[in-house]
Amino acid sequence: MAESMLILRMCSIMLVLGFSEAKMEIITSKPDLLLGENAMLLCKAGGEGDITWQKDGEDAEEDQIEKVDETSSKLLIRNAKMEDAGRYTCLCDFDTGHIDHTSYIIFVYERPSFGETLAYHEFLEGQDVVITCMVTGKPVVEVNWERDHEKLHSEAGRITRLKDNSLQINNINRKDRGTYTCEAKIKDRPIFEKLDISISVNVPPTAKIHEEVKKVTAGPETNVSLRCLVEGVPQPNIIWTVPDSSDESRYKYNSDKSELIISSVVRSDYGEYICTAKNKISESSAMIMLDVSEHPVAVLSQKKMELEPGQTLSVSCNVSGHPMPALQWVRKTNNDHLLTVDAGGGRVRMEDGYVLVVDNVTSSDGGLYSCMAISPAGNASTDFSLQTWPGKASQDVRTIGRRESSSPQTPWLSKI
Ligand SMILES: *[C@@H]1O[C@H](CO)[C@@H](O)[C@H](O)[C@H]1NC(C)=O
Ligand SMILES: *[C@@H]1O[C@H](CO)[C@@H](O)[C@H](O)[C@H]1NC(C)=O
Ligand SMILES: *[C@@H]1O[C@H](CO)[C@@H](O)[C@H](O)[C@H]1NC(C)=O
Ligand SMILES: *[C@@H]1O[C@H](CO)[C@@H](O)[C@H](O)[C@H]1NC(C)=O
Repeated sequence: MAESMLILRMCSIMLVLGFSEAKMEIITSKPDLLLGENAMLLCKAGGEGDITWQKDGEDAEEDQIEKVDETSSKLLIRNAKMEDAGRYTCLCDFDTGHIDHTSYIIFVYERPSFGETLAYHEFLEGQDVVITCMVTGKPVVEVNWERDHEKLHSEAGRITRLKDNSLQINNINRKDRGTYTCEAKIKDRPIFEKLDISISVNVPPTAKIHEEVKKVTAGPETNVSLRCLVEGVPQPNIIWTVPDSSDESRYKYNSDKSELIISSVVRSDYGEYICTAKNKISESSAMIMLDVSEHPVAVLSQKKMELEPGQTLSVSCNVSGHPMPALQWVRKTNNDHLLTVDAGGGRVRMEDGYVLVVDNVTSSDGGLYSCMAISPAGNASTDFSLQTWPGKASQDVRTIGRRESSSPQTPWLSKI
C-alpha cells in the first residue's frame, strides 16, 4: 500500500516537471459515429512540434489530415464506413526533443432496425407461439426482451428465447397478453432502439348456466332472474333466445346482458331460455328450462241455488292451474268436517269429474259445498251454497255418495 502511494507520488512529480507543457489531448464530439456521418478529431499537442496521425498503428491517409497550427492538427473522417472504426493516435515530435502521443477510439455503427418485424400479434389461448424480432445493425446487435417495461422473466419450459432471438411462448394464456418490447442494442455501446410488440390472446367464448331447470310460481310478485356466466376474449356479446309465447316487454337485462330478469312471471313464460355468447372466435350456448307453475283456481257455474225438494241439483266447477290441479267436491258440515263427494251411482255424486249432482233434493241437502283444486303449486277452493225450500239444514248427513278409497292427496278429508 505504502509502496503504491510512493509510486503514485513519483509519477505526479514527473508529470509536473517533465511533461506539463506537453499534455496532449484529442477533442471530438463523440466516440460513436453513425455510418455515413462526418467527424473531426482535433489533436492539441500542448506545445510546438511535428504532429502525425496513426490509425490502428498505421499512418493515417494524407487527405484526412489537416494541419491547424504548430500545436494542433485535425483528422477528418468523411462519410464514415465500418472500416473507419478503430484507435486513432496523435503523435507529436516536440521541438523540445521528446516524443509523446495520445489515442482516441472511434466506433462506427449502423443504427439498429427492426425491418419487417410485426408489431402486433393475435393468438388463440393454448397455442404454442413464436414472437420474432428481426434486427439489423452493425457491427453486432444484441437483443433483449421486456414485458410491460420490465425485464422479461422466462418461465422454465414455457417462455424461452430461441437462438434467433425470437421469444417462444408455449400454451399461451390470456395473462400473457400485453406489450412486449424488443430492444436491439449495439454490443458494448450505449446505442439501442426499442420496438413495442402488442400481443393479444383470444379465448373462445363459454356460456354456462348453473341450473338446468328453474321452478317458479306465476304471479304479479314473482320476478325471475336467469344468469348466464360468460367468459371469452374479446368480451363476447350475449343474446338470449326465449320461448315464442313469452312477452319480451317485461324483460330487463343488466348492462352486459348476462342476466335476464322477467317480472311478474306468467305461465306463458314457460320454456327454454338459451343464452348465446359470441365473439369473433366462435360462440357458445347454455340453456335453462323455466318451469312456471300456476296457482290453482276453481270457478263455479253458480255460487248459490235455491231448490225445492225433489228437484235435481247440477253445478259445475272448472279448475285451472299448472300442473293441472285435481278437482274435489266436498260438503262442509256444521262442525267443520269435510265430506268428499264421490263419483259413482249415489244420489249425491260427482259427474264427469267436475259436476256436482244431487238427485231428488231433500231439505237435509241444504248447506255449503266446496269445489277444491289441489296441486303441488297450492290449493284453492270456492264455496257453493244450496238452499232448499222450505229451508231446513240437516245436522246429520248420513250419506252423500260412496267412497271406495281415500285420496292420498287429501288425507284431511273424511270418508263418507
Ligand atoms: C319485481 O320487479 C318489479 C319491476 O322491476 C319491481 O317493481 C318489484 O318490486 C319486484 N318484485 C319483487 C318481489 O322483487
Ligand atoms: C268450464 O270449462 C268449459 C270448457 O272449457 C267451459 O265451456 C265452461 O264455460 C267453463 N265453466 C266455467 C264455470 O268456467
Ligand atoms: C226420486 O224420488 C222418487 C220418489 O221418492 C222416485 O220415484 C224417483 O225414482 C227418484 N228419482 C231419482 C232420480 O232417484
Ligand atoms: C293442499 O292440500 C293438501 C291436501 O290435499 C295438503 O297436504 C297441502 O298441504 C295443501 N297445500 C297448501 C299449500 O295448502
